[in-house]
Amino acid sequence: MPEYKSKPYSHIVRILLILIGVVVVGVAARTIFLPDSFGKYGHYRPTAVEDEINRPLRNGTNASCLVCHPYIREMHMEGIHKTVSCEFCHGPVADHVQDGKVIAKLPKKQGDEIKTLCLRCHNQIIRARPKESIKMISMPQHLEQQHVRIDHNCNQCHNVHAPLMWVKEAKAIVGVEEEGK
Ligand code: HEC
Ligand code: HEC
Ligand code: HEC
Ligand code: HEC
Repeated sequence: MPEYKSKPYSHIVRILLILIGVVVVGVAARTIFLPDSFGKYGHYRPTAVEDEINRPLRNGTNASCLVCHPYIREMHMEGIHKTVSCEFCHGPVADHVQDGKVIAKLPKKQGDEIKTLCLRCHNQIIRARPKESIKMISMPQHLEQQHVRIDHNCNQCHNVHAPLMWVKEAKAIVGVEEEGK
């Protein structure tokens, strides 16, 4: 049988050639793909800052909603939810209004979605929430305390834009009745 002979160190030469190839391709790719301005001020692309500044705004403030929704304005501004963002519950103004014109409707939560929405802020389970600023409830205990069926939805008793409005009104009525006795 013929003896197989290779030159000494040929395996190392092969590995070195591969490594040199990798370095050459890497340097070439870096030169081709790196934006010209990279590294001008530091290890980043300076125009990235401009790109971020020019990105169109998607969100507004409550004031940007209230100009067109005077009826909601009346309730929201006087209610206990006046500090809560319209957009948290309805989505960004950019999906609804562009250049002062209505382009599409914003979603209006219905049915069980409303419960889920309210409980995102008011659920007792969220222990990290400051209880002094946001009152917490647990379900279905909250409804059991009110002596109603547990399939009641939050907005049957709480006006979503002024949650204590109807509660206060109901208490006032009960108060009047008590006076009449
Ligand atoms: C330029 C005026 C304008 C602004 C600003 C505006 N809206 Fe509206 N919005 C309207 C009009 C008009 C309608 C009714 C559209 C329709 O019925 O097709 C409407 C509809 C809605 C609806 C849907 C009501 C329904 O019955 O389905 C919601 C929710 C809503 N707006 C919330 C908001 C919120 C939240 C903001 C701020 C992020 C906002 N709007 C800003 C004019 C405006
Ligand atoms: C806590 C969540 C929440 C906040 C905050 C909130 N909304 Fe709503 N909104 C709802 C829900 C839920 C509905 C639909 C159910 C209902 O009306 O009971 C609704 C309904 C509406 C409607 C439709 C009213 C109708 O008669 O059909 C408009 C318009 C609207 N909201 C605008 C606003 C604007 C403007 C703000 C900010 C000033 C705002 N909302 C803040 C939850 C919210
Ligand atoms: C984004 C968070 C958020 C969401 C969502 C939200 N709330 Fe509130 N809610 C608050 C904050 C904050 C306050 C307290 C405001 C204050 O005390 O100034 C509050 C206050 C209340 C209160 C009065 C508590 C008291 O002081 O007696 C009720 C009732 C209430 N919310 C019901 C609801 C209902 C019903 C929904 C769903 C439609 C809802 N909330 C959705 C943040 C939220
Ligand atoms: C059957 C009517 C009814 C329904 C349905 C209802 N609530 Fe209430 N809720 C009340 C009343 C009444 C109060 C005020 C209790 C008081 O002042 O003693 C209240 C108080 C609250 C408070 C303040 C609690 C506190 O510690 O002061 C929060 C938060 C609240 N509700 C959220 C909700 C949420 C979220 C839902 C839906 C999952 C909901 N409620 C459904 C009647 C209701």
